[in-house]
Amino acid sequence: MDYDDITTCEDGWQELLKEYKVLENLNKDYLAKLEEVGELQGKCVKEIEHQRYRVGIISQSLKKLKNSSEEDKQKAKKLTNEINRRLHNLTEMEHSLPKPNGTYLKIILGNVNVSILNKNDKFRYKDEYEKFKLVLSVIGFILSVINLFTNIRVLELSFMFLLVWYYCTLTIRESILKVNGSRIKGWWRAHHFISTVVSGVLLIWPNSTTWYIFRPQFMTFNVYISIVQYLQFRYQQGVLYRLKALGERHNMDITIEGFHSWMWRGLSFLLPFLFAGYVFQLYNAYTLYTLISHHEATWQISVLSLLFFVLFLGNTVTTCMVIPQKLREKYDHYHKVEDSNKSRNKGEHSD
Ligand code: COA
Repeated sequence: MDYDDITTCEDGWQELLKEYKVLENLNKDYLAKLEEVGELQGKCVKEIEHQRYRVGIISQSLKKLKNSSEEDKQKAKKLTNEINRRLHNLTEMEHSLPKPNGTYLKIILGNVNVSILNKNDKFRYKDEYEKFKLVLSVIGFILSVINLFTNIRVLELSFMFLLVWYYCTLTIRESILKVNGSRIKGWWRAHHFISTVVSGVLLIWPNSTTWYIFRPQFMTFNVYISIVQYLQFRYQQGVLYRLKALGERHNMDITIEGFHSWMWRGLSFLLPFLFAGYVFQLYNAYTLYTLISHHEATWQISVLSLLFFVLFLGNTVTTCMVIPQKLREKYDHYHKVEDSNKSRNKGEHSD
C-alpha cells in the first residue's frame, strides 16, 4: 500500500499504532506466562527433590525392617514395587524440566540452556544425531577408499582432520543428549573422546616409513568401521522409531514383546560385526606395538598402540555387558506383565 501525502501517512501510522497496542499486550501476556513457567519449573524441581528425599528414607527403613510374618513380607514387597514405580515416574517428570549442563558442556558452551523439554523435539534431535553420524561415515568410507588406492598426503591429512572434528562434535552432541535424559553409557562417550585423541595423534604422525607400513591397514580399518557404522545406524534407527511408536500406542504388553524380539534379531545380526571390529582394533594395537622397535619409530606409535588396545578392551567389555543387561530387562518386563495379569485376574474374581 502506498501513502500519497503526509495525512495518509499519519492515518496509516495511527492505524498501525492500534495494532501495535494489541501486539504489546500479547507480548506482556507471553512474558508473564514465561515467568509463570519458570516459577512452576522451580516448584516442580523442589517437589521432586522432596519426593526423592522421603522415598529414600522410606526405602532405607524398609530394608532395615525384619519382617516376621508372611503378610508383612507381602506388604513390604508391594511397597517396594510402588517405590520403584514412583522413582521411575519422578525421572520421567525430570525429563520435562530444564537441567544444568555438565562440566564439559559448561567449558565448551558456557552456561547456555540445552534442555529440550518436548518429547517430539527430543526424538528429532536424536534422529538428527544418528543421521549426522551416517552422513559422516559415508564421507569417511569414500575418503578411506580413495586413500587406500592413492597416496596423496593432503587427502590423508584432510581425512584425519575430518576425524578429529567429527569425534569432537560427537562428544558435544552426546553431552547434550545426556543432559536430555539419554541412557548412553559413559564408555561410549569416553570412546569418542579417546577417538578424538587417536585422530589428533594420527594427524601429527610424521610422514615416515613406519606410517607407510601402517597406512594401508589403517585405511582398511576405516573402510570396515564405516560399514559397521552403517549397520549400527540401521539398528539404532529401528530402535528409535519403534520406541517412539510404542510411546504413542498404549497396547504395551503385545508391542513391547514385539519390540524385544525385533531388538534381539537386530543385535544378533550386529554383534558379530562389532566383535570383528574389536579384533581389528586389537590387531592395530599389535601392529603398532611391533613398530615401536623400528629404527624410525616416533612417540606417536606407542601412544596409538596403547590407545587402540584401550579401545579394544573398553568396547569388548561394554558390549559384552549389554547382553546380560538386555536379558535382565526382558526378564523384568516378563515379571511385570505376569504381576499385572495376576492382579487383573484377582480383580476379575473379586468382581
Ligand atoms: N554410541 C552412541 N549412543 C549409544 C551407543 C553408541 N555406541 N550405544 C548405545 N547408545 C545409546 C542408545 O541409543 C540409547 O540411547 P537413548 O537412551 O537416548 O535411547 C542408550 O545409549 C542406551 O542404549 P542401550 O540400551 O544400552 O544399547 P542399544 O540397544 O541402543 O545398543 C549396542 C547396543 C551394543 C548395539 C550399541 O551399544 C553399539 O552399537 N555399540 C557398539 C559401538 C562400537 O563398538 N563402536 C565402535 C565400532 S568398532
